[in-house]
Amino acid sequence: MKRESGMQDDKVSLVEMGPRDGLQNEASTLPLVQRLELIARLAESGLQRIEVGAFVSPKKVPQMADSAELFKALPRKGPTRYGALVPNLQGLQAAIAARADEIGLFTACSDGFTRANIGIGVEESLVRFAPLVLEARRLGIKVRGYLSTVIACPFDGPTRPKRVAAMAERLLDLGCHEISLGDTIGVGTPGTVAPMLDAVLHEIPAGRLAVHFHDTYGQGLANLLPALERGIRTIDCSVAGLGGCPYAPGASGNVASEEVVYLLHGLGMSTGVSLDKLAATGQWVSEQLGRPNGSQVGQALHANAERLRMRLCQSSSH
Ligand code: HMG
Ligand code: MG
Repeated sequence: MKRESGMQDDKVSLVEMGPRDGLQNEASTLPLVQRLELIARLAESGLQRIEVGAFVSPKKVPQMADSAELFKALPRKGPTRYGALVPNLQGLQAAIAARADEIGLFTACSDGFTRANIGIGVEESLVRFAPLVLEARRLGIKVRGYLSTVIACPFDGPTRPKRVAAMAERLLDLGCHEISLGDTIGVGTPGTVAPMLDAVLHEIPAGRLAVHFHDTYGQGLANLLPALERGIRTIDCSVAGLGGCPYAPGASGNVASEEVVYLLHGLGMSTGVSLDKLAATGQWVSEQLGRPNGSQVGQALHANAERLRMRLCQSSSH
């Protein structure tokens, strides 16, 4: 984000996490037909990258168990690309069979979280990923590298910025086209996010980075500012603030997509997303799940729409 000028021309790419990171950690499981409707609505609102599923152990994350069926039923028209998480060769084979447009491999800066999440340590995960990246790229499938615990680990404590930079570089060297920096438990503030980003940007250009902020402490939106100021233009977000990570105790959802779009449009940046359509989708999915809408922007727009509807009802009954 240029402080004085030029922000108006800036385009930001949003990577919608609701159907995967969101729904993997909701108390109630959304049936397949509703997940498909959610994805169709998100694509219709203008989102061009949506992570829709995960080819992981169904024992670990039962909410994602029907990802293969989901991929089979996706509407493949339009520009939207659909991604999936993959932890190992079995997951990669399933993602290839499902014709995922992009896969996300995931590791972390810390051993504690990595072991809880995928059952192996960080070093072992990189060894496991190397042939997976080669195979995916051979088939023309883009590989995103998720790097979790970039601020702190729920098991191992704070993460040093230099550790994040070194790990991000190693994922890039494996052949990932983009590294998504995850504040998995949402403990960062601009005070800790800025030095972490500076360390990473010392090694890696902003165009290869995405930020993935969970909003556990309500800092997700504030943390986007140092990222935008440093030229990062890919943001992970989750409609209605759905979700969290089942293997990060206490984590809540990603920063809400509606909040991100409202902020970016307010800064004169473009996203290609219709805020009205996105907010209606956030309200809809919250009602399907029987939970409050986790987006304040979504709540405000819904309240406005309800007031307008009441006024129209009253004037038509006179
Ligand atoms: P394991 O138990 O060590 O694996 O799990 P295993 O190889 O011994 O296999 C055990 C069983 O799992 C076998 O089945 C395998 O077939 C099956 P069984 O013989 O017992 O019936 N299995 C699989 N099934 C489906 N798909 C697969 C697969 N692999 C093995 N790909 C494993 C190791 C990695 C599979 C497991 O730990 C796992 O699935 N972990 C994923 C956990 C997860 O999805 N976490 C949430 C996503 S990460 C996240 O949210 C963070 C992120 O958002 C960024 C951030 O916020 O920081 C990305
Ligand atoms: Mg996450």
